[in-house]
Amino acid sequence: MNRDHVKLFIPGPIEVSEKTFRAMGKPMIGHRGQGFQDLYAAMQPKLQQLLYTKNPVFLSTSSAWGVMEAAVRNLSVKRVLNCCCGAFSDKWNDVSLRCGKEADALKVAWGDPILPEMIREKLAMGRYDAMTLIHNETSTGVMNPLSSIAEVMKQFPDVMFIVDSVSSMSGVKIEMDALGIDVLLAGMQKAFALPPGLAVFGVSARALKRAESVPGRGYYFDFLEFKANHDKNMTPSTPVIPLIYALAAKLDDIFAEGLDARFARHQKLAGMVRGWGARNGIELLPAPAYQSITLSCFDNGARASGKGRKIDVAKFQKTLKERHKILIDGGYGKIKGLSFRVAHMGDETVETINELIGALDDSLKGL
Ligand SMILES: Cc1ncc(COP(=O)(O)O)c(C=O)c1O
Repeated sequence: MNRDHVKLFIPGPIEVSEKTFRAMGKPMIGHRGQGFQDLYAAMQPKLQQLLYTKNPVFLSTSSAWGVMEAAVRNLSVKRVLNCCCGAFSDKWNDVSLRCGKEADALKVAWGDPILPEMIREKLAMGRYDAMTLIHNETSTGVMNPLSSIAEVMKQFPDVMFIVDSVSSMSGVKIEMDALGIDVLLAGMQKAFALPPGLAVFGVSARALKRAESVPGRGYYFDFLEFKANHDKNMTPSTPVIPLIYALAAKLDDIFAEGLDARFARHQKLAGMVRGWGARNGIELLPAPAYQSITLSCFDNGARASGKGRKIDVAKFQKTLKERHKILIDGGYGKIKGLSFRVAHMGDETVETINELIGALDDSLKGL
């Protein structure tokens, strides 16, 4: 293996290309000058096309959590329903409470999806004005059924539909406007394959309207500050300009490949990694209808049914790293060791995933 560094196949941050690093290295510009405004304006239609929206798409100099917290702080005065199906979505409930909001957790077992009827039952109580959903729960590899959940949300027009697509945006088609999503957010260190530190988020007109009447929005993450600055092709505070250069270059690549081709590539890579698991008797944690397209979370005993193959995950990781300079994830939170995760998103190709599969096969021997 002649790679000069350990290649990340963990589900974020992931491998960043030399091309992206070069894009980041351009000279600085002032963020209140025409150069930045031109850069911002040029990216906007591409971001809107990527999110299938006419809404403004804002750039946040933060990781995804900044915007996740902001969504709750900007949009709820009554009560938030946090749909919880893994580490990140569970945490969102804790974050809502820490922000001083009234909030309830709709909980399912890790590895299970959130189903539309569960949401309908909760929202029918009439207590909620915002709902949070993680589209692709990275800790369990569950991809929740967004379209059928969106159908339910359309019956509750006063409830803000807040969607985290941190590990799915740009790898999977998500039509923000058609689905009626009010906030759609992602961090750039996942399927966009940029270094961490930048998040993007689309916000609907009705969400901006709601924010006007919500107290305690703060400053840094106030959606109305984002909108006022957006109207001048700027951000509220000094943004992480190197990452914005990188995103601009990445958007060019995304549209050169074509959105449909990009989504199809991610689907194909997912099939390859799932196929590796199937050949080796290692099942995915989620049921087939809810398996993520950008990462695979393999069951290594996480299910109470105990069907997992139970390999020595730490040893598997060590061999992959030492022999192949590849890092996979050894399971997140309470299913650490009882699962392991392999990312297949970003710039990966059939060729690089074949190389990964060769390394997985080699390192699995004897485990
Ligand atoms: C689905 C999901 N949401 C939120 C986060 C939090 O992102 P960050 O740590 O970049 O704020 C992650 C991180 O892995 C994630 O996978």
